[in-house]
Amino acid sequence: MRKIRIFDTTLRDGEQSPGVSLNVQEKLEIARQLARLNVDVIEAGFAIASPGDAEAIKVIAQEIKGPMICSLARAKEKDIDVAWESVRHSERPVIHTFIATSDIHLDFKLRISRDQALEQAVWAVKRAKRYVNDVEFSAEDATRSNWDYLCRVYGAVIKAGANVLNVPDTVGYTTPDEMEELIAYLFQHTEGIERAIVSVHCHNDLGLAVANSLAAMKTGVGQIECTINGIGERAGNASLEEVVMSIYVRRDHFQTETDINFLEIYRTSRQISQLTGMLVQPNKAVVGQNAFAHESGIHQDGVLKEKSTYEIMDAKMIGREEKVLIMGKHSGRHAFAKKLEELGYHLSEEDFLKAFQRFKQLADQKKSIAEADLHLIASEETTRTEEAYKLDFVHVCSGNNILPTATVRLIQGDGTILEGVATGVGPVDAAYKAIGQMVGLSSDLVNFTLQSISGGTEALGEVVVRIFTDDRAYVGRGSSQDVVVASVIAYLSAINKMTQTKKVNPQTHHE
Ligand code: KIV
Ligand code: ZN
Repeated sequence: MRKIRIFDTTLRDGEQSPGVSLNVQEKLEIARQLARLNVDVIEAGFAIASPGDAEAIKVIAQEIKGPMICSLARAKEKDIDVAWESVRHSERPVIHTFIATSDIHLDFKLRISRDQALEQAVWAVKRAKRYVNDVEFSAEDATRSNWDYLCRVYGAVIKAGANVLNVPDTVGYTTPDEMEELIAYLFQHTEGIERAIVSVHCHNDLGLAVANSLAAMKTGVGQIECTINGIGERAGNASLEEVVMSIYVRRDHFQTETDINFLEIYRTSRQISQLTGMLVQPNKAVVGQNAFAHESGIHQDGVLKEKSTYEIMDAKMIGREEKVLIMGKHSGRHAFAKKLEELGYHLSEEDFLKAFQRFKQLADQKKSIAEADLHLIASEETTRTEEAYKLDFVHVCSGNNILPTATVRLIQGDGTILEGVATGVGPVDAAYKAIGQMVGLSSDLVNFTLQSISGGTEALGEVVVRIFTDDRAYVGRGSSQDVVVASVIAYLSAINKMTQTKKVNPQTHHE
């Protein structure tokens, strides 16, 4: 079996999904989970994009052992230098530099000639090579570039020291057979290509990202770039879980393998969905809610007799078994701590105590606690931001014959008490208006989703809210058995993130 490297770009291309914005703590939590998933490379961000991005890459590079840690950089001096500053503390740092090579991009976006782009690419790779051994070069929009020119560019950057040549289908335009032909052509006509790892990076604009990645792999690429749940620019990237499970389930056909720890796939998918606020469609392959559900009688009968009649992979294998914990209100701190450790959480003493308190409250009200409940509680505690505003109480009046009214009391970081009252079209709207008045934010609630964790009317309700100000999205989450309380917590969490980001990172230096 030929080994395929899995390059995860959830924290870079994935974070470029519209409406997604992760803070440093959330990125670090994701990187820890990607390390447990055992990806080969974590592209932790685009250091020049903002001081927040650079800081997150730095923290990840310092802490995460195992995977290589990479920062993206345009083929520019400042980008490469800032990328190096961010990854330098990793045991295995990578700089990934790129420049567009298609005539469309050269003529209309960069306004430079093919020769100038080639020269800039070589210069950038040489500069990155001064800092790190591992330099990846991407020819942006490769699939719409002239093939002979591409071979020239890749040949030149290999000579300059690039050891990974990435072939991005930047706009998701290509088809599997074209991809196979292009990769075969590059292997035949690029000088020195045998010294490099060839990689693909496919976008999903036509829903072909996974198929194109697998087609490229058949023709010899050694690395696939992908994201958890397929998130990314526009329609997203090739989905890691689909790529990896295709390679595994059809190993007879592809004769390749990855080092991914399958058991962590489902958990990683849930984490990304929770932290980004991007819900996974129910019929999504591998990780969707219905991916292992059998509705028709014929299918159910078949599966009961023999699973393989209608199931090509085992849900347990990717960690999908929904476990009801043998834990309840009588479980002690020790058992709770052990369970959190098993689930991969390492909480500080303070966060642990808060999580334990929430677990106890839930166990008092709910007969059975699901693993999903614990994930939610633990991940909320580990990624909590400094609270500029804390909820003291919320009281709502609503019904079918009454004007919904909310009274909310908040405590500010310095202890000041704020109180607000407002009416709205419903209790959540009223509460948000009351908060908006107090914190000086017009309740520009762009996106609001509510879902039940683990089912049943007594389940935890999870709310994800996205607010937009200054061209940026802030995602807040909140959970409670009371959906109005969950909604208020989510809104405050988004507001707290916004306040903290503005404090730490008053402006970006993106050109
Ligand atoms: O899609 C793309 O071309 C990219 C490159 C920067 C690799 O994300
Ligand atoms: Zn991309």
